[in-house]
Amino acid sequence: MSNEHKRTLYICSECNAEALRWEGKCPVCGQWNTLEERSALPGNHYATKSWITEKARPVQELSEIDISHETRLDLGSQEINRVMGGGVVNGSFVLLGGDPGIGKSTLLLQIANSVSKSRKPVLYVSGEESPQQLKMRADRIGIKGIGLEVVSETNMNRILNHIDTIDPSITIIDSIQSVAFPDIPSGPGNISQVRESGLALLHKAKETGSPIIITGHVTKDGSIAGPRTLEHMVDVVLYLEGDNLGSYRLLRGEKNRFGSTNEIGVFEMGENGLLDIPNPSHVSLSDRGASTVGSAIVPIIEGTRPILVEIQALTTPSSLPTPRRVANGIDASRLSMVIAVLTKRIGVSISKQDIILNVAGGFRATEPAADLGIALALMSSLKNISIPLKIAAVGEIGLGGELRGVSQMSRRLAELGQMGFEGCLAPISKVQTIDTNIVLFQNDSLSTALAKVLHSARK
Ligand code: TYD
Ligand code: MG
Repeated sequence: MSNEHKRTLYICSECNAEALRWEGKCPVCGQWNTLEERSALPGNHYATKSWITEKARPVQELSEIDISHETRLDLGSQEINRVMGGGVVNGSFVLLGGDPGIGKSTLLLQIANSVSKSRKPVLYVSGEESPQQLKMRADRIGIKGIGLEVVSETNMNRILNHIDTIDPSITIIDSIQSVAFPDIPSGPGNISQVRESGLALLHKAKETGSPIIITGHVTKDGSIAGPRTLEHMVDVVLYLEGDNLGSYRLLRGEKNRFGSTNEIGVFEMGENGLLDIPNPSHVSLSDRGASTVGSAIVPIIEGTRPILVEIQALTTPSSLPTPRRVANGIDASRLSMVIAVLTKRIGVSISKQDIILNVAGGFRATEPAADLGIALALMSSLKNISIPLKIAAVGEIGLGGELRGVSQMSRRLAELGQMGFEGCLAPISKVQTIDTNIVLFQNDSLSTALAKVLHSARK
């Protein structure tokens, strides 16, 4: 019996697998050094206790469940609302991840400010900054903070008490890695602390029906530091991304129980915080260089929005036995496929080149519709021929070198028209009524499409 009490478990911080012995490598997911010791004794953690003492809820017939009160809270920014699926659902538990310094605290302070204008106050808990530091940021963004209750606190018991007494319309915890239960032996940021704090907050959000947003730092490999369990636990996982040098920030949904994960939100970090960018195509086009060698514009669809992205390619003869392939914002396997088709079907000698591909502005062009743009940018760089400034390209490339149709063509063309484009290389399309001024250069194969642009550009 006493043995039973002393039992310890080892839990993988990546996949949450349990092992009885410590091992260097997790037996389930194969990650190294992820097993962490944890007591198997029931009842010594907040979350475990609360589940046990909770009264059983009655079973309900699905048809009887009332969702007329299932309201979403407006977060004050069209960009954030869109990524959330139209605002944050009551009682939901949201994780905002991102590298340090990317703007998570700024974004959440702005959200807190706009929600605080509702009837109930907002609770902003910072485990990393003092109230004075929060005030300085608020001043910078031009936020007065009426109805915005802030506290510097890392003790989870006290944080839960604050939520009970203030009864906020929304609670923000910045960050989950800085808070801890004092009765759990390990320090803040440790897997047990992150998991137990996460569970307690999840429980609190469901119990009170008011949403809780937590922030989490991202590790170098892109996962939220600490346990992956956090990602399973929450309803919504958002990432704030962007290169630290540039001022644009993208908000992406990695998981959303209440909406699509295709939508992206685009912001600019300025002197006074994050500004919505309702028309992201401007981002790609405004920074486009004077030379369009190796630069192709592709109208992609991100969720409900068409966005023009710039695909940049650089090819240089390689001195390495295996030439380098770097793809930022493009699926590496799509790049390999395009290279293979260019080599085999068009007879281009590109396999001995180092190739760097990049989607400007931190956007991604992972849909197959970007294939033709990738091929065009590559060929333009290889041959050192510029692509006409006002001509875009869209189309999927098949393994036989044929061009395949893409969905939502008219919306893509409308966006090109709005941004002042004159023409677009495209597959042969059955869509007859394309209601724009854009001249469509339709092709059934990659080779005719390439010949058209690269030849006309030479003149
Ligand atoms: P912050 O929100 O503190 O990032 P995180 O919480 O993700 O660590 O933002 C930090 C950066 O943003 C910092 O380098 C300063 C910059 N910033 C601006 O450029 N403009 C602003 O109005 C604010 C508040 C911050
Ligand atoms: Mg911060």
